[in-house]
Order: sequence, then C-alpha cells, then structure tokens
Amino acid sequence: MSKLSLDRILQSQGFGTRKYCRALIEDGDVAVNGEIHTNYKTAIETDGLVLTVFDEEWIYREHVYIALNKPANYECSRKPSHHPGVLTLLPEQFTWREVQPVGRLDHDTTGMLLMSDDGPFIHAQSSPKRHVPKVYQATTAEPVTQALIDQLLSGVQLHDEPAPLAAVRCIQHGEHQLEIVLEQGKYHQVKRMLAAAGNHCAALHRSAIGGLELDALGLAEGEWCYLTPAQLTLLA
Ligand code: URA
Repeated sequence: MSKLSLDRILQSQGFGTRKYCRALIEDGDVAVNGEIHTNYKTAIETDGLVLTVFDEEWIYREHVYIALNKPANYECSRKPSHHPGVLTLLPEQFTWREVQPVGRLDHDTTGMLLMSDDGPFIHAQSSPKRHVPKVYQATTAEPVTQALIDQLLSGVQLHDEPAPLAAVRCIQHGEHQLEIVLEQGKYHQVKRMLAAAGNHCAALHRSAIGGLELDALGLAEGEWCYLTPAQLTLLA
C-alpha cells in the first residue's frame, strides 16, 4: 500500500511537469478509478490505480518494462542524429518518465528491443557479467559455409578486444541465413564477427533475448507491449 498526492502520481507517470499536472487536475481532465478529481493534493492509493487522462485510461505503473519490435531506420541513442529515435514509437509519456533502451541495436537492425525506466533493471540487464543469450537472425552477403560457422563458434578476434569472441550457437537456416546466439553485447558484435570471419552482414534481426521470443509477443514492426512479470522472468 502506498499513497501519493495526485499531482505527484501524474508526474511520475510522465504526464509532464508538476505545474502542468496540477493544471490538468484542476481543469477536470483527470479521473481516478473513474471519478474526476480536481484537488491535486488528494492522497491516492497507487496499488491497482487506474487514471483516466483526457478520456484515455492509464494503469498506474511504478516502472515500465517494454518490448518494442524495432523497425529499421530508427536510432537507439538518446540524441539521434540521422534517423528518428526509438522513443518516437512510444507514447510521449514514456519520454517524460525517462524510458530508455536496454542496450542498443544499430539503426538498421530490426527486432526485439527492451526498454524501461527502471535504472537497476537496465543496469542489471546490460551488465557484461550477465550471460543472457541474445538470438540474432543474420542475412549474409556471401553464402554461409561450415568454415564460417566453425570460426564463429571457436571465436574470432576483433581488433579492440583482448580475447577472441565466440558465438554460443550458430544454426544455418538458408544459403544466406544464419542464426547466431551471443552472450556478450559488444558494439556491432554480430557485424564485426561476421566480417572478421570473412563474410558480411547484409541484414540483422534480433528474434529473442533469453527465453523471451519476439514472435510470441505478436508485435508488428514498430509495435510495443508492456512485459508481464512472467515474461520478465524469461530474461533471467
Ligand atoms: N550486433 C550488431 O552488429 N548490431 C546490432 O544491432 C546488434 C548486435
């Protein structure tokens, strides 16, 4: 059980500055569990709280955990320079509550991107000590060969890494289709490993993180969903 004033609650959910949230409440634009409240000082129980703001329902969430099916030509950086940022695919509230990508995908990589505003969660998921497998579907410029697979599995040396990096699994799905599973998350890792092994990555898609598969989420490109506690346990 935890109670907060209504203006703080609205601010925590990303509806804007405290001043703006107070104005929304005083203007009668905010309902609490279906009932309009115009006093921003009212202390409200946050457990099970449903807000309605401008006729749209928002379940109160202390933190948000999101999976996005990232399309190509979106950047994960905070200050995107050449393409729109991934945050533009989410409701504006998420920018206000400082939702950020958990790790990064290149602008031309598609597929599963986790996002959250829970700092310890982001930190834990991005930690190099964590060995959660990330599953990539690579389209290669040159045909996949057994020699390529053997090299990726035994480890390839990248110029700025102290030791060779190896894939934990490589499965050929077609002449130019290779599933590569990595436990690290180094910069451009799949593309650099393929290049170091004598091929070239023509397209890249992340299909799963840990036991959480993008297909199971049923998201079209550009769509996102909240992750349930059960889905979050699949990331462990
Ligand atoms: N490896 C890459 O090369 N790029 C990505 O976006 C993710 C993994």
